[in-house]
Order: sequence, then structure tokens, then C-alpha cells
Amino acid sequence: MDKQQELYAGKAKSVYTTDDPDRLILHFRDDTSAFDGERMESLERKGKVNNRFNAFIMEKLQEAGIPTHYERLLSDTECVVKKLDMLPVECVIRNIAAGGLVKRLGVEEGSDLAPPTFELFLKNDALHDPMVNEALAETFGWATAEQLAEMKSLTYRVNDVLKQLFAAGDLLLVDYKLEFGLFHGGIVLGDEFSPDGCRLWDANTREKLDKDRFRQGLGGVIEAYEEVGKRIGVDFS
Ligand code: ATP
Ligand code: TYD
Repeated sequence: MDKQQELYAGKAKSVYTTDDPDRLILHFRDDTSAFDGERMESLERKGKVNNRFNAFIMEKLQEAGIPTHYERLLSDTECVVKKLDMLPVECVIRNIAAGGLVKRLGVEEGSDLAPPTFELFLKNDALHDPMVNEALAETFGWATAEQLAEMKSLTYRVNDVLKQLFAAGDLLLVDYKLEFGLFHGGIVLGDEFSPDGCRLWDANTREKLDKDRFRQGLGGVIEAYEEVGKRIGVDFS
């Protein structure tokens, strides 16, 4: 597969066109950002760790019948994906209270959320990804009612698959964010699933093993990602 020009350089990944108009290459860089890009750092091995982590999860989701853009690994830090027309909303499910929810509603970090909550955010760095809802998304044309219903249902199905997968590694899936896009009109899971876009705690000690280690300056960020990956069977060799 021929890598052609850079289409987009995000905060953590770069996206390249290929000789196939329906395929892109995602390059996972070592760059890490927090607080809307206010804090940026390069963390050794991050690109490789997240590329392998994401490939493992996307394969598990595909096996469970969830349509994903992931096709194959291309190198340590790159994979081939279907080119999607990304929908500018982010779907978040929370099983346990943390992060933005704790700040917004004053609930105690670590409280169980039953049933799990579903939230939508607008993908817009300049506006700091504000929380929106289905009515706003429909009115402003970010997604249709049918697309929103499909994204919500897929996001819950992902929760069922991944909660179990992480539980087997003694990990709690606290919350996570998914992005979807359209491939020839159908809704497909895009972007990535890695400890950069979710919260994972040790089930016994509740130690944070995700990007909060970077956000909160706890250190050992990539070591934690590797620990999580090893517990669920990701091959980092
Ligand atoms: P954020 O960190 O808020 O997600 P970003 O744009 O900085 O934003 P990166 O992960 O660095 O994020 O960039 C990757 C970009 O590629 C994202 O904008 C994402 O929506 C887009 N993208 C992911 N998968 C696909 C795909 N299959 N087709 C087209 N674009 C995609
Ligand atoms: P949230 O607690 O709302 O945001 P923050 O941690 O920035 O205060 O996020 C819930 C989960 O979704 C968390 O695991 C991080 C992830 N997420 C992203 O990765 N990017 C985003 O733009 C958003 C809104 C959430």
C-alpha cells in the first residue's frame, strides 16, 4: 500500500492518503496532549503501544460484530483503515464517575453509575469540545436522528464487549470516548480505542492506568498503558 500525502496532523496521530481512495494510513505518534493541546509532550514508545493496543481492541470489536474502520497493522506505529467521513460528535459512556462528570455535577469520583450514562460532545477544539445533545446535533446537521441512534446503540454494545474484556484483566472500564464516521453511507467506528481516550482502573486498588496519569502528572504513563495491554493479551513485541 502506497503512502501518499499527509491529509491531516492531529494532536496524537497523522493521517495519510493512499493509492486506494477508500483507505487511509493512521500514524500513531509519540505526542501526547491534554487540556485541549495546552500541554504537549512526547512519550517514548507511545505511538507503538497505542497502535498495537488499538489494533487488538478493534479486532475484538469486529469479532463481536461491531463495524470498525480498522483493517490491518502496517508497521509498529501505523495501520490501514477505511477512509470515513467523520461525524463531528464524540460519544462517551461512563460506568463509574470520574473526570468531567465529577467536575460538572459534583458527584463523588468512583461512584457506580447504574445504568451507565451516555453523553455527546461536539468535536471542536476552539470551543473546548462542548457537551451537546441529540436535538442540537440534528438541528445543526452534525448527524441525523438515525445516525445518532445507531452510534448510541453501537457505543453501548462496545461497553458490553469491553467491560468484560477488561474485567478479565482485573481492570475497571470507567469511561471512554468513541468517534464514528460514514463509509459508503453506513455508520462505522473510527479513530482509536486506547488508554488515551478512556479511563481504566485496577479493579482491586483503583490505581489509574490511563491518560489521567499524564493529565495529573502521576508519571509512569506508558508503563501503565503497557501493563493494561499485557493484562488483556496485547502483543507489544
Ligand atoms: P482529538 O485528539 O480531539 O481526537 P485530533 O484531531 O487532534 O483530535 P488525532 O487523533 O491526533 O486527533 O487525529 C486523528 C484525526 O483523524 C481525528 O480528527 C479523527 O477524527 C480522524 N480520523 C480517525 N479515523 C479516521 C478515518 N477512518 N477516516 C477519516 N478520518 C479519521
Ligand atoms: P470527560 O471526563 O468528559 O473529559 P475530561 O477527562 O477531558 O474531563 O471524558 C470522558 C472520557 O472520554 C475520558 O476517558 C476521556 C474521553 N474523552 C476524550 O478522550 N476526548 C474527548 O474529547 C472527550 C470529550 C472525552
